[in-house]
Amino acid sequence: MIHVTFQPSNKTAEANPGERVIDVAVRAGVKIASDCGGRGKCGRCRVQFEAAPAAGAVSDVLPGEMALLPENREGYVYRLACLTRVLEDCTVIVPPESRVSDAAPRKPFTRYKIPIRPAVTRRTVTLQSVNREGPFLSFAARIRNALREGDADHVAAPSFPILAEASAYLSGKPCTEITVALFKDKEILQIRPGVREDLFGVALDLGTTSLAAFLCDLKRDRIVGVASGLNPQVSYGEDVISRIAQIQKDPPKLEIMQKALVDAANGLIRHTVEEAGISNDDVLDVVAVANPTMQHLFLGLNPVSLGEAPYLTVCSEAGEVEARHLNLQVFPYARVHILPLLSGFVGSDTVSVLITRKPEDLRGNVLMVDVGTNGELVLARDGILTATSCATGPVFEGAQIKCGMRAAPGAIEKFWMDAPGGTIQYRVIADQETQNLPKPQGICGSGVISAVTMLLRAGIVRRDGAFDLDCGHPSLRINAATGVAEAVLIPATLTQTDRNIAITQNDIRAVQLGKAALRAGIEILMKDRGIEHLDRIFLAGTFGNYLDPREVLDIGMFPPIGVDRIEPIGNAAGDGSRLALFSLDKRQEAVDLAERIQVVELSMRPDFQEVFVDSMQF
Ligand code: FES
Repeated sequence: MIHVTFQPSNKTAEANPGERVIDVAVRAGVKIASDCGGRGKCGRCRVQFEAAPAAGAVSDVLPGEMALLPENREGYVYRLACLTRVLEDCTVIVPPESRVSDAAPRKPFTRYKIPIRPAVTRRTVTLQSVNREGPFLSFAARIRNALREGDADHVAAPSFPILAEASAYLSGKPCTEITVALFKDKEILQIRPGVREDLFGVALDLGTTSLAAFLCDLKRDRIVGVASGLNPQVSYGEDVISRIAQIQKDPPKLEIMQKALVDAANGLIRHTVEEAGISNDDVLDVVAVANPTMQHLFLGLNPVSLGEAPYLTVCSEAGEVEARHLNLQVFPYARVHILPLLSGFVGSDTVSVLITRKPEDLRGNVLMVDVGTNGELVLARDGILTATSCATGPVFEGAQIKCGMRAAPGAIEKFWMDAPGGTIQYRVIADQETQNLPKPQGICGSGVISAVTMLLRAGIVRRDGAFDLDCGHPSLRINAATGVAEAVLIPATLTQTDRNIAITQNDIRAVQLGKAALRAGIEILMKDRGIEHLDRIFLAGTFGNYLDPREVLDIGMFPPIGVDRIEPIGNAAGDGSRLALFSLDKRQEAVDLAERIQVVELSMRPDFQEVFVDSMQF
């Protein structure tokens, strides 16, 4: 065994000689950006060694690696963590641009008031006392009798596992009054002594990049705690396709990735229950929503069939699994309810967004858009619903662009010019706890859209996406090292990384490809339904919440529509999972919607390519 130390976190892990730096980093708990999932393609996992690492301490530079490495700074050598293997004890420096921020992702949410009807209820009953004359009824029989007398004859006898859990909890202590938790009013889920009125559940929103957990008081219709965090699976690739590819290549990764996801969800649950001063055992119900790949990974279902046409799911139906089978740290027999998937590429997160809408919201020609690594679209025409998903790529998450990063403190989320052709201004995301404004580190998804819109408006970028090299704006230059045109938005002297923050021609192409995929999806759904204009657009998702509607219209991401007709609705997938937690009716609504919605697979459409190419123009 050798020892690898990571700086500046000063974390050390043991490693076998020959292991990749990126794998050792995961084990050490050091998060290194890895847009391509460690395939040596994106160049985001660059790390440094002080001077040249001692000869033989790490593997030699590979031919393909050189092209992705920046110029070495004096005294440091750059390498890619996914292509470099450690051979002897060494120290790896993770530069700021390769670090994945631990700051909780922004997850704006909306409180909705609906009639509540949770799946779990509590009932307190008095057990028949046992005296010397008998009858000598069992604990289970006395519970059954008490429930019968209390007009709950329909409740099934407690199962052996529930009795085993309760008898361990009671440990032989006699009790005359007990409170049972009932699942769907007919099955005993938990038995506790005395009167218990509290009733808690957790709603989970499992995104490709970030996770959110909402601890809810199901009795009082309140959100008690909210926690969000990064999906640790980003270490296996920014997008779901990279993660599926890893499992296809190395099937045991499924278990590793599932564990990483469940551990992260447990961390969020632990945070909320500790803050609320309750125990994990008090959480008696869970609802989870996700895109198809994340849902498969959460449930331990192999997602490989989702990676290629015809994108078949292992299971699309709504259902329940006991928390203990997923190692989710709530009451072990609590049911984890999963909303239905619409297809192999449109997930329960989309269904979840839809159940936040009232029927009147879907009158007329209404588009619901959730933009992330994939763009998920639902078009309603007078209540008839069609859905699709477009491969927008990770550009809107701030990934796979030169100076991209996810929306975290230090990310630039907005650009503008103080006058046409004038000085570039920008807004950085503040530290959520201290409200301090860090120096800029990179550009997040909304910042990328904002930058491209600013460059378009200033005439630095033409409508076909090419830089206008004759425009004369001082930000525009040809990068001497790469020979590629770029607009330097913030000089190195003002950044955290001591490097220019720039938008390159390749970045603009990535935005064009992403927005064209989304626009083509919208155009095809509209064409199929014979719609020529939209009355309203609901913009769901964290990214959508921070977009400026004027900017997305300027770059042609949506068909022309009044700015006031575009309504950001926040993290609606998380909101919908909470609604399903509070209401069995909402769970049924999700099932009904999934049966009603027609799903369009864009890659099977012969007209897609033509519409896509037409949509490339800004
Ligand atoms: S090049 Fe190493 S993760 Fe992409």
